[in-house]
Amino acid sequence: MRMSDLIMKKRDGGALDRDEIRWMIEGYTKGDIPDYQMSAMCMAIYFKGMTPDETFELTMAMLDSGDKIDLSGINGVKADKHSTGGVGDKTSLLLCPMVAACGVKMAKLSGRGLGHTGGTIDKLESFPGFSVEMSEEAFIKQVNEVGFAIAGQTADLCPADKKLYALRDVTATVASMPLIVSSILCKKLAVGADVIVLDVKCGSGAFMQTEDDAFALARALTDVGRRAGKKVVAVVTDMDEPLGVTVGNAIEVHEALATLRGEYRGELMELCLVLGTQILRESGVAADDDAARAMLEHAVESGAALEKFAAFVKAQGGDPAAVYDPKKLILAPVCLDVKADRAGYVRRIQAEDVGLVSMHLGGGRAAKGDSIDPGVGLALGKKVGDPVAVGDVLATIFARTEEAGEKAVEMLRDCYEISAEKVERGPFVKGVVK
Ligand code: URA
Repeated sequence: MRMSDLIMKKRDGGALDRDEIRWMIEGYTKGDIPDYQMSAMCMAIYFKGMTPDETFELTMAMLDSGDKIDLSGINGVKADKHSTGGVGDKTSLLLCPMVAACGVKMAKLSGRGLGHTGGTIDKLESFPGFSVEMSEEAFIKQVNEVGFAIAGQTADLCPADKKLYALRDVTATVASMPLIVSSILCKKLAVGADVIVLDVKCGSGAFMQTEDDAFALARALTDVGRRAGKKVVAVVTDMDEPLGVTVGNAIEVHEALATLRGEYRGELMELCLVLGTQILRESGVAADDDAARAMLEHAVESGAALEKFAAFVKAQGGDPAAVYDPKKLILAPVCLDVKADRAGYVRRIQAEDVGLVSMHLGGGRAAKGDSIDPGVGLALGKKVGDPVAVGDVLATIFARTEEAGEKAVEMLRDCYEISAEKVERGPFVKGVVK
């Protein structure tokens, strides 16, 4: 087989077969196929797309390029969740204990990642002593005993995706549906949960900016996931403004805990209830959506989910007292308000740009290996649709220095668009693709 022939075939709109896709992915992972040929292939896929069969074969070839986690030692149904990424997304921190309190095991591997804030792992490391390093045996033992674990990745899962994603990032080929589907699903399949729920974000702070694209991605993900033998449900949700009311690391843990304590009832809890409902129903522990939702609500109201969270923090070496006394999760000392300079209604909060404010403060990572400051971040006092008077606090910044804080105040004010007319918010959950 010759790579140039495969590139030509795809360039001319042909479909690659299983053997061709496997040969290409193996060759690229081993280094036999150079980046310049793979770049040309990615661009051809970007323009010509892939059939559902090709996307499935690409996913399976990438899955088979590396290690797989064996979750067979976990008793009962195992679930996993993935989000296509968004600003202020702390969903896993609530969803895992809520679902575990209802009797479904959550086995999650998480990365640190690049971006506006750290990944789930960085957020959890706000708990003094918390560790995500554990052997596969310890991971399985904890899931069995506590109901869930969130660990860092040590096994070499999907090396083909690591290499390909880095290449796509610098060749303007990230935004290709089949490449996104195979990249997301090969990693989820390598972890091996039975039920996978996917939160597909849609809006200015997401990969998929329109509803049509987000639903198309959701359908492609569920199609390939089902063909791989998994129960996969995708929920399309709004990312036109940051999720919830905080962006950062420790500050997002504060919000997650307050929400688990029942102090807030915003879209963050709604999202967890919708995602959790899919998991409980697909796992068979709830007969239908209403029963699943009632179980999740009860897990929060009874304090069972918060207790699960404390048990999880303790099992991973953190101080569980901080779950009940969040003052132990220390925020950066310079606290500055962003005040409205005009009256009206919040029309938009540019999620992507709010993420950049967090990056500027030191809460995110621009390059692999950068350190992050867990204490910096921001809290949004007003969300889309809220009325605003001159002088109202739109948001509060937590910065390490006055200088960084003052710049962040200016940056964050620019993220808010205030209109004179009343603003109606669209639905937060746009649909569920089963
Ligand atoms: N997330 C991934 O893991 N891969 C993509 O291609 C896009 C989002």
